[in-house]
Amino acid sequence: MQNDSERTGKYIEVSLAVPKSIDEIVCNYIIENLASGLILEDEEGSDLIGIKFYLPDNIPPGFQKELYQYINSIESDFEFSENSIRLKDVPDIEWVQFFRDSIQPIFLDDVVIRPPWVSIPNKDYIDLIIEPKMAFGTGRHESTRLCIRAIQKHLKEGDSFFDLGCGNGILSVLAAKKKATRVKGADIDPIAIDNAWETIVINNVAEKIEYETGSVEIAEKEKPYDFFVANIIKETILELYDRIDNCTKPGGIIVLSGLLAKDEGPIVSKLKKCGRDSYEIINEGGWIAFTVFK
Ligand SMILES: C[S@@+](CC[C@H](N)C(=O)[O-])C[C@H]1O[C@@H](n2cnc3c(N)ncnc32)[C@H](O)[C@@H]1O
Repeated sequence: MQNDSERTGKYIEVSLAVPKSIDEIVCNYIIENLASGLILEDEEGSDLIGIKFYLPDNIPPGFQKELYQYINSIESDFEFSENSIRLKDVPDIEWVQFFRDSIQPIFLDDVVIRPPWVSIPNKDYIDLIIEPKMAFGTGRHESTRLCIRAIQKHLKEGDSFFDLGCGNGILSVLAAKKKATRVKGADIDPIAIDNAWETIVINNVAEKIEYETGSVEIAEKEKPYDFFVANIIKETILELYDRIDNCTKPGGIIVLSGLLAKDEGPIVSKLKKCGRDSYEIINEGGWIAFTVFK
């Protein structure tokens, strides 16, 4: 492997491979700390996903160590070493074009998720324009895709909608495009909220959605909602479920995502305690999502 001081090109290409279960977290870290864009190489049948990004050659040394320590700090059985991060000089900034060319639109039934520079001739799709720099909510992660499926199936025109843990706003933009009214989102991460405001501008739905930094207390201010989606993690969902339930109208729908198949039992117990016995579970790639009918 090349050492930091041996690099000579204007840019360096950094590549690594991580398990698919942690790729969004690692991508988030890279985007927040190192590069504003990255390329994912998803090989069918493999549990690993390749991540590639480009840095100017004058980046301070030591980023590899911090990246490798961060990956090892994530709860995972994966053993990652500093040598797992490969560096290569690239002579010029042709990678910008390479990066743009590598991002393909994602089609999920009648929804397409695309970067701003890719156009879709077929106008029948619900078009979600997402800047790939905004890591969580790219539409590649199963937890997002399961929420999209639940929204596609159950959201009705005119429903009020709350997006808890909105990330880059992908789900609330979908809801607004499906003609939900009073669409609101919250995230504890102010960077996510900045990203969400950017997403609604490029999707031309800025006047239909509001975001605030925070959590379920934001929903409580103007409750109840017809449709409540929370794509977070099991622990947070269990902790907040009573309040989420309370923010949802009788007859309304609650979508819970960010859950692994092994989380089904604890979530079912929680729903039972709250008197919720009408729900459906959908799954993809080891991830599950509940659609609760209140
Ligand atoms: C898995 S991402 C979901 C992003 C987007 N909604 C999607 O479906 O792709 C989870 C988001 O929840 C946010 N989050 C984590 N804990 C939270 C909490 N207690 N309240 C609100 N947001 C939270 C994180 O900052 C992150 O942006």
